[in-house]
Amino acid sequence: MANLSVDFCSVKFTNPFILPSGIITEVNEHKRAVEAGVGGVTLKSLTYEKREGNPLPRVWKYDCGMINSVGLRNAGIEKGSEEIAVFLKENKQAPVIVSLFATKLKEFLFLVEKIVPLNPPFIELNLSCPNVDDEFGKPLGMEKGAAGEIVKAVKKISVKVPFLAKLSPNVSNITEIAKSCENAGADGIVAINTAGPGMIIDINKRKPVLGAKKGGVSGPGILPIAVRCIFEIYEAVKIPIIGMGGVSKWQDVVEMMMAGATLVGVGTATYTKGMKVYDELKRGLSEYMEKEGIKELKELVGVAH
Ligand SMILES: Cc1cc2nc3c(=O)[nH]c(=O)nc-3n(C[C@H](O)[C@H](O)[C@H](O)COP(=O)(O)O)c2cc1C
Repeated sequence: MANLSVDFCSVKFTNPFILPSGIITEVNEHKRAVEAGVGGVTLKSLTYEKREGNPLPRVWKYDCGMINSVGLRNAGIEKGSEEIAVFLKENKQAPVIVSLFATKLKEFLFLVEKIVPLNPPFIELNLSCPNVDDEFGKPLGMEKGAAGEIVKAVKKISVKVPFLAKLSPNVSNITEIAKSCENAGADGIVAINTAGPGMIIDINKRKPVLGAKKGGVSGPGILPIAVRCIFEIYEAVKIPIIGMGGVSKWQDVVEMMMAGATLVGVGTATYTKGMKVYDELKRGLSEYMEKEGIKELKELVGVAH
């Protein structure tokens, strides 16, 4: 096996594969990805209050991936932070990224203050959830001013924990948002969250398939959007990027790294191929590196520019 290890913000990952946020819901269940040999694991986005999520059905598979409107179903910060403390103690093999979502700056700061003492390897600010706008209006952080303001305020209180800004592709200019996050002190960028929102209609029932009618699109259909976003962000910022969106084969991993990703998230593919997808990707990537004489993955990052 080739050397798949990667340094990201001075943290060592044994391989470049990340479980993206929300693919698993329960905190403790994320150990399934760790046991499957993922390089790093992102926990489901946590909010200030407990959220039941959107009406069922919340996820739907289609030919090119999935559509979901989970709506940030989670236990809320009080219970969630206790569960995270236990998870961090029990799972040392793969760096853990704690994902946080809020609709107000004050709430974001409260969440960060609660998580920093747990000393996770990373905090991820979800500045991009598409499935909450019915309740709250446009999600926070979808334009450069608000994103920069949140990141700047978080930077002040998360001094010892590196934090990442997760961006949405559903904006007119993702690079200016990435740039403003970098200028405000983010340690890395995560791109992309789901695309859309989209809608699928069941032609027999003559109704949208999702309870919330519309939802975020993930899986192979969004790979070209993700690659374009990562390519553009890489040209705009110096901080490293976790790329994700539609990766299901080792060739997609290579493509995403060539666009500029240092680490690569693989989410929806775990629903179609199971957790063994990480082993399949490691094998494919390793064979490719050996064939191409690549000693370290960083040799691939950004070469398409
Ligand atoms: C069912 C489901 C739930 C998700 N929940 C979250 C979430 O809570 N927070 C978040 O930042 N992204 C969430 N996402 C987005 C993923 O983290 C990822 O950005 C997206 O699915 C693209 O990657 P993929 O095509 O490999 O799945 C969710 C995606 C899915 C499919």
